[in-house]
Amino acid sequence: MCGIVGYIGREEAAPILLYGLSRLEYRGYDSAGISVYNNGCLNTVKAVGKLQNLIDLTDSGKNVPGCVGIGHTRWATHGQPSDINSHPHVSASGKISVVHNGIIENYLELKEMLISEGVQFKSETDTEVVSQLIDYYYNGDLMDAVSRALAKLEGSYALVIISSEQPDVIIAARKDAPLIVAYGDGCNYIASDVAAVLKYTRQVSYLEDDEIAVVKADSVTVYNEYGKPIDKAVTTVEWDIEDAQKGGYPHFMIKEIHEQPKVIRNTISAHIKDGRVDLSDTILSEEFCRDIRRICIIGCGSANHVGVVGRYLLEKYTRIPTEAVLASEFRYSEPIVDEHSLIIVISQSGETADTIAAMREAKRLGAKTLAIVNVVGSTIAKEADCVLYTLAGPEIAVATTKAYSAQLAVMYLVTIAIADKLGRLDAAEHDEIVRELCLLPEKVEHILADKEKLQQYASQYFNNESIFFIGRNLDYAISLEGSLKLKEISYIHSEAYAGGELKHGTISLIEPKTLVIAVATYEKLFDKLMSNVKEVTARGANVLCVAQQHNSGSATDAVNNAFFIPDTHEMLTPSLAAIPLQLFAYYVALSRGCDIDKPRNLAKSVTVE
Ligand code: G6P
Repeated sequence: MCGIVGYIGREEAAPILLYGLSRLEYRGYDSAGISVYNNGCLNTVKAVGKLQNLIDLTDSGKNVPGCVGIGHTRWATHGQPSDINSHPHVSASGKISVVHNGIIENYLELKEMLISEGVQFKSETDTEVVSQLIDYYYNGDLMDAVSRALAKLEGSYALVIISSEQPDVIIAARKDAPLIVAYGDGCNYIASDVAAVLKYTRQVSYLEDDEIAVVKADSVTVYNEYGKPIDKAVTTVEWDIEDAQKGGYPHFMIKEIHEQPKVIRNTISAHIKDGRVDLSDTILSEEFCRDIRRICIIGCGSANHVGVVGRYLLEKYTRIPTEAVLASEFRYSEPIVDEHSLIIVISQSGETADTIAAMREAKRLGAKTLAIVNVVGSTIAKEADCVLYTLAGPEIAVATTKAYSAQLAVMYLVTIAIADKLGRLDAAEHDEIVRELCLLPEKVEHILADKEKLQQYASQYFNNESIFFIGRNLDYAISLEGSLKLKEISYIHSEAYAGGELKHGTISLIEPKTLVIAVATYEKLFDKLMSNVKEVTARGANVLCVAQQHNSGSATDAVNNAFFIPDTHEMLTPSLAAIPLQLFAYYVALSRGCDIDKPRNLAKSVTVE
């Protein structure tokens, strides 16, 4: 969603801001803008649509001179995408310029108050209220005006503010939306995401809720919620700028698909010691596991689909009642969880608004939370009782692939660890699963080497108007993800059904030549799914089947096209079955000429409800 960058130093700010915004494009946006201080004035330029429009309008920043500035990519929430509604928002007097991520919930009330005081508004946004309110309180001290304005705001925000009256300072404030300060040499930066500044520095501090940073060219002072200056830990970012670039691939998505063997290997090997799964540095002690009466897995989108896999696995291997619940539903469902509940929170970004709210609700009710998160220092990582990081590196394509695979890997580890503590996994099976886990990266390589086959299937089916996915048990969970991937990036209508549900309605949609993708890797229900395949082929559907290699004989006979994954332990088939579905979605979208890395209307990180 929206992205923020700020710079103060001796260099020209605009090119740095525009570059930073380009690194944030992947988050999803529909307009962009910058404000730069020069000669007593704030010069603000905005453009709707792609960032390139703003780059063209400013001649790559050359016609917006000055060494202090802020920039923003906006994903519209209040008011349609337009130049006026884009950020930065400048107060009517022209003194204060603000960029904002999040939502100010009481903005109408504040707007009314300011209008009654004679303030004139230009936009429909909640953010303009912030710049006007700061200006209203401004009396020669920017920090004082910002603090007074913040005290009146309800909602969530990452705010970055500059003023034509005090151009030697940028002020940043955070509440429920990520913000970092990054330290340069004779200059400093502010950003919503490390990617924006990594070209210039690796030294960053993560702001916490209710903290305010006063950033100057040669100093940074962070104040806590009581207005006291505090020492902030400075972290060195470990990943490289190359990790966030395409590296010769035409799209981030296909690059990230190819990174999956490495990502799975790194994520697994971090938690296997002497041939055993070792999560001893988490809350999963034997005493804790014995006390768990219920497990809830919460997340949104693909993270929820990992939760559905986890639900099947945890119930099967630990016998603890487990549910996978959408975070947006969980938070308002008056959930029945207490101190005997384990809540597994899954999120790539660690900043998804619904997932954060659901986690907080679970904690309020006394449950223990274990987070599976990719972004170090994110809100969920900080607030959960313990965190297991997915070592996927930065994921840029909006449609997740490698972070999803890393989440699956952690889900296996958690399942094995709990089952082990409860004495439900005998040593031989434990060792067999771990052996197969360690072979997963190689088997994923094997699938990737066969990608042309999926490209060929995609070229056969890319014109279909509707594509259905069916599967049972773990294959149903994978079908949900395969269907989401396809619709996200190709805009083809797609639905996933549990095989047994077909007859209860969906089969009426099957016409001659409708494509049905049958995921049939779950050995115990292979024959059942093949019966579903017969039901749809009898009605003229084309079927593309994904099955394990050892079933190639029976699967090939029953379907039009098939893709075989290497055989593996039955717990681990999701990791292999997901790959051909990702590739199929990618190649279909490619054939249709879609904007694969930045699909319409979608955002990488959904930081508002
Ligand atoms: C967005 C992304 C999805 C992602 C979901 C949850 O919708 O486009 O790819 O699965 O958010 O995001 P999270 O960061 O919490 O995993």
